[in-house]
Amino acid sequence: MKGIILAGGSGTRLRPLTKVTSKQLLPIYDKPMIFYPLETLLKAGIKDILIIVAPDHAGDFLKLLGSGQEFGCKFTYEIQDKPDGLAQAFIIGQNFIGNDSVTLILGDNLFEDDFSDAIRSFKSGGRIFAKEVTDPERFGVVEFDDQRRALSIVEKPTEPKSNYAVTGLYIYDSTVVEKVKNLQPSARGELEITDLNNVYLQEGSLDVAFVEGKWLDTGTFESLFEAIVFARDRSRAA
Ligand code: G1P
Repeated sequence: MKGIILAGGSGTRLRPLTKVTSKQLLPIYDKPMIFYPLETLLKAGIKDILIIVAPDHAGDFLKLLGSGQEFGCKFTYEIQDKPDGLAQAFIIGQNFIGNDSVTLILGDNLFEDDFSDAIRSFKSGGRIFAKEVTDPERFGVVEFDDQRRALSIVEKPTEPKSNYAVTGLYIYDSTVVEKVKNLQPSARGELEITDLNNVYLQEGSLDVAFVEGKWLDTGTFESLFEAIVFARDRSRAA
């Protein structure tokens, strides 16, 4: 199993915090944001990790993270020239992925869960993780039938069919690269991870698991603040 941390994008919603640095380098209490998704991958036993960054601050990521030796893993770096969608990570990473399965984690997502079992037991298809939230319209939303089987996934719906958001951790087999190559950009001009998940869903090979612990996406000032408080409380409890 390989890992990808996607730390691209321009963080426009967090301006002016992101005017001179990348969102994923902002402090979350005592660590830069990207340390949290990195720790999630490391905790799950993933040691071969591709870090995808935007061109502007690529040097800062390299300076912060280096070869990976310090973390007991190996880093590879790639540039995402333009924020053309999360699913583009698999095209950028196609040589890195090769014939392996891959776990993608978003560089601005904080998880409390340990995904070791979910990753170890993964064989093929896709596996995503849903979490009940109060503001589903901000996310990809899963609709379930009464047996809790996924029926559809809709990106940022104005009228969400459930309160279950798709979180920023995704496991796919190596067919992901070809699947993304066949996607069309969405109305906002991006290769959507939600469209990719719907391809696996239609194929009957998407497993929707659930996040048990805390999950935070730090895309807004409010959620960024919440993440800092969460990280402080966790650090104090440790
Ligand atoms: C992205 C995805 C969305 C997912 C979210 C998780 O949204 O498009 O489906 O629920 O990440 O953090 P974005 O953060 O790009 O708005």
